[in-house]
Amino acid sequence: MSATTYPNYSPGLQGVIAGITTISEIDVETSSLTYRGINVHELAEHAVFEETAYLLLMGKLPNKSELAEFKARISNESVLPNEVIAALKQCPKNMHPMDRLKVAYSMLGAFDADYRAEPTDHEANVRKAVRIVAKAANAVAAAHRISEGLEPIQPSPELGIAGNFMYMLKGEKPDEFVIKVMDASLTLYAEHGYNASTFASRVTVATLSDLYSGIVSGIGTLKGPLHGGANEEAMYMLMEIDKMGDVAKWTHDALAQKKKIMGFGHREYRIGDSRAAYMSKLGKEIGKRVGDTHWGDIAEVMEKIMWDEKKLFPNIDFPSAYAYYLLGIPIPLYTPIFVVARTTGWCAHMIEQLDNNRLIRPTCIYEGPKVTEFVPIDQR
Ligand code: ACO
Repeated sequence: MSATTYPNYSPGLQGVIAGITTISEIDVETSSLTYRGINVHELAEHAVFEETAYLLLMGKLPNKSELAEFKARISNESVLPNEVIAALKQCPKNMHPMDRLKVAYSMLGAFDADYRAEPTDHEANVRKAVRIVAKAANAVAAAHRISEGLEPIQPSPELGIAGNFMYMLKGEKPDEFVIKVMDASLTLYAEHGYNASTFASRVTVATLSDLYSGIVSGIGTLKGPLHGGANEEAMYMLMEIDKMGDVAKWTHDALAQKKKIMGFGHREYRIGDSRAAYMSKLGKEIGKRVGDTHWGDIAEVMEKIMWDEKKLFPNIDFPSAYAYYLLGIPIPLYTPIFVVARTTGWCAHMIEQLDNNRLIRPTCIYEGPKVTEFVPIDQR
């Protein structure tokens, strides 16, 4: 019997309501996204990433003094212990940056001053969340530099998370425009309801495990190309198309071969992902500034064909890919940047889960062999 004939079964849990949240709302009809009731575009346009982080973790936007205090906390907590740096130096050369991040966060839990706190201690969980968010940009940049045989660069206290990420990566202070792009990008990537990685981190802490274990689950889940890994795959695809030189032919051929085109489609949205529209605007602006608009041009042709032929639209991972490329960020770091942003959403969800916890344990339909007699080993 085909599994899809069961009336209460939804493959991939599509459409299944798995919880109640006050963190973000996706409006599928209008393709809009709000964090705690505030439109994500307003945040991307007018706020730095730390304001979004505060909003997600504390439940409200900070005022000026709260933001200053929060930024100081982030700055103080951003340094990685020497032992974590040493462990990153032991990682195999071919290890993907997402796997290096799992190494870092697996260790960081034990360095947290609240390591032994009760899993449902709300205040301790908020303190842990701030430490988790604070260290993410440093962990990504340090792991990358170490993998390149370079020494990590300490974060600069004058810069926020967005600016520090670029500074720790390249060793040069980024200009205001680059900081603005990174702030907006981190803001857009920060939170998105019960997506696969957030759900994985909620499932992890619902067993009364800890936030750091949930972060490791989140990173492992985000890594796949059907989720966060799509931004890296989208860039490799754009490079392949650029090399071939005929974007329309490439796209038509790929569709004819029923290839999954990375950076298109979404489980929730039906008519478009508004984050992609915002990121695409930024990507094209970066293109103009650096004098390379051809990635935006390729993207536009592809987007039109994908919509005309399949009613598929770009998700945020598609324009992010060429935006990051134009900023000179190495491709294997695109999904780790997603982690820097999403630590906020993951932590907000894990805290929400633990504040009103119940073990998450669904059920399944058995289609294996009927009960048969056990045959002792010497008679098989
Ligand atoms: N390219 C080509 N066809 C697609 C694409 C795509 N990107 N996305 C969906 N389709 C087609 C499928 O082939 C399928 O067609 P069929 O019914 O003829 O078999 C149909 O649309 C439904 O696709 P599903 O994969 O079943 O849809 P689902 O809701 O499970 O998947 C997903 C959503 C995983 C995002 C899918 O659109 C996809 O694989 N996209 C590419 C990967 C990607 O960009 N992931 C990033 C998601 S957003 C994020 O994580 C920030």
